[in-house]
Amino acid sequence: MCGIVAYIGKRDAYPILINGLKRLEYRGYDSAGVAMLNAQDELNVYKTKGKVSDLVSFASGKDTSGHIGIAHTRWATHGEPNDINAHPHLSRSGNLTLIHNGIIENYLTIKKELGKRGYKFKSSTDTEVLVNLIEDVQITQKVDLFEATRIALNHVNGAYAIALIEKGHPDTIIAARKGSPMVIGIGESEFFIASDATPIVGMTSQVVYIENEEVVKVKLGEDLKLKTIDDVEMTPYIQELQLNLESIEKGGFEHFMLKEIYEQPTTVRDTMRGRLHADLGKITLGGIFDYEKKILHARNIIIVACGTSWHAAIVGSYLIELYAGIRVKVEYASEFRYRNPVIFPDDVVIAISQSGETADTLAAIEIAKEKGATVLGICNVIGSSISRVTDAGIYTHAGPEIGVASTKAFTAQVAVLTMLAIHLAELNGHLPKSRIMELIHELDLIPEKIQTTLERSALVKDIAEEMKDCHNAIYLGRLQNFPVALEGALKLKEISYIHAEGYPAAEMKHGPIALIDKDMPVIFIATNKSTYEKVVSNVQEVKARHGKIISVVTEGDVLVKEMSDYVIEIPDTECTYAPLLATIPLQLLAYYIAVKRGCNVDQPRNLAKSVTVE
Ligand code: AGP
Repeated sequence: MCGIVAYIGKRDAYPILINGLKRLEYRGYDSAGVAMLNAQDELNVYKTKGKVSDLVSFASGKDTSGHIGIAHTRWATHGEPNDINAHPHLSRSGNLTLIHNGIIENYLTIKKELGKRGYKFKSSTDTEVLVNLIEDVQITQKVDLFEATRIALNHVNGAYAIALIEKGHPDTIIAARKGSPMVIGIGESEFFIASDATPIVGMTSQVVYIENEEVVKVKLGEDLKLKTIDDVEMTPYIQELQLNLESIEKGGFEHFMLKEIYEQPTTVRDTMRGRLHADLGKITLGGIFDYEKKILHARNIIIVACGTSWHAAIVGSYLIELYAGIRVKVEYASEFRYRNPVIFPDDVVIAISQSGETADTLAAIEIAKEKGATVLGICNVIGSSISRVTDAGIYTHAGPEIGVASTKAFTAQVAVLTMLAIHLAELNGHLPKSRIMELIHELDLIPEKIQTTLERSALVKDIAEEMKDCHNAIYLGRLQNFPVALEGALKLKEISYIHAEGYPAAEMKHGPIALIDKDMPVIFIATNKSTYEKVVSNVQEVKARHGKIISVVTEGDVLVKEMSDYVIEIPDTECTYAPLLATIPLQLLAYYIAVKRGCNVDQPRNLAKSVTVE
């Protein structure tokens, strides 16, 4: 939700800001803006509805000079996406300009107060209210911008990652965060500020992650000055950035999503590297080593997540119950946070999140922590908020996921959860050693089998051609393939805007079957061995109603294949590992349908990569 970048140093700010915005565009892309302070102490603010490329056209030929600047790419929360609501926003005097990612929940109250004192607002945003509040504090309390920002932030509720620059101060940027992420890159006589590290890659490898409710003063010639909004001085913790340029570029693929789909043999291998020891028949999960006993003796294990991560959680819950015999509940983080859940200090809550910044998941963690539970994280983004607020965790190591539709992060999450389930069974002896060995051996083969699945998915383009004009689709699967059905449907909805639903296959006759006619594509994930016959019956029921049958089956399948209009075969594996393979053709199907419909695959409408607001 919105990306922010700021720069101060010896180079021209504008190209660095634009390049940074392009890398952050996955976070929001309905409008963009930039502000630079030039050598004459003039603040040049350019902003426009549309993408970063529209901003570049808009600013072309104008004065973009200056060695200090801030920039923003927006995902609208308050006020429609238009030029006026785009960031940066100026204060009443025109001396301050601010960019903001997040939501100021009490902005209407503040706006009213400022209104009484003669402040007028041009936009409908909470951000314009905030910049004026900061200016008001600066003027009325006669303090500098650093102090004014700190004081003003004590009056706001909500989430923010902000950066401000001020006329007359070409050497200083003030920034702060709560809820929304922020990282500062420290170069040689230069600083970078951004929502995540992608704009900083290639510029410097020294970074500081700003914590919640911290305000920072970045001044050339001085060390970073960090304070909490309660006025407590903090020491910045400088870390080495673990991200390279190659991993955030498209590498010859037309879209990030396609690149990320094709990366999965490698990313799943990376997820298992150093953890799955096929030769020893052993799994080690160093990140949670100290918490293993707590997990095994937990009164309840509750997984909280949103969207695709929630689908991975369902796969994980099935596997942990099946392999380790431990009951696991899965909850939408957004529901969990508000329903006053019963949590005990001996519960273990596992939060799953690709970005590690999802607001609902963070709030669910806070609640679990307040109630004394142990909280573990399964995150992809190293150094993200969730990875920092949890007691311990397991990184998925899938590398940066730029496409808004999650693909490789899902398979990495499932791989982590599969290892966790086997490891718990190893620890509590719920499965015999020989079975554990079999499971580990087969899991080790999964990256190769993902590669084979990708190679066998050529037919997906034909299916995409057949489905591209449909208005609805149903995805059906049983057991571990039920979350695969949900994930397949979510992918199609997100990027092609075709209405799609996923169900456990047996639920079809309880309602959805009424929808089936010759125009309804029904995608079966029919790989489970134990429920295979049941799914065959479901396929027959759809066929009898002339639905179009597309199925994902295990190689060598006969029955479902005969009844299907289109079939995609995946390699044979443990039936519980099917999600790691069967998801791949569904990702590709959604991708090719979206491309054929002319949709913006990497930046689908109304979405943003990390949902840092409620
Ligand atoms: C997935 O394709 C979606 N973009 C979305 O559902 C996502 O999985 C969800 O917002 C959760 O994000 P997180 O994993 O970063 O917490």
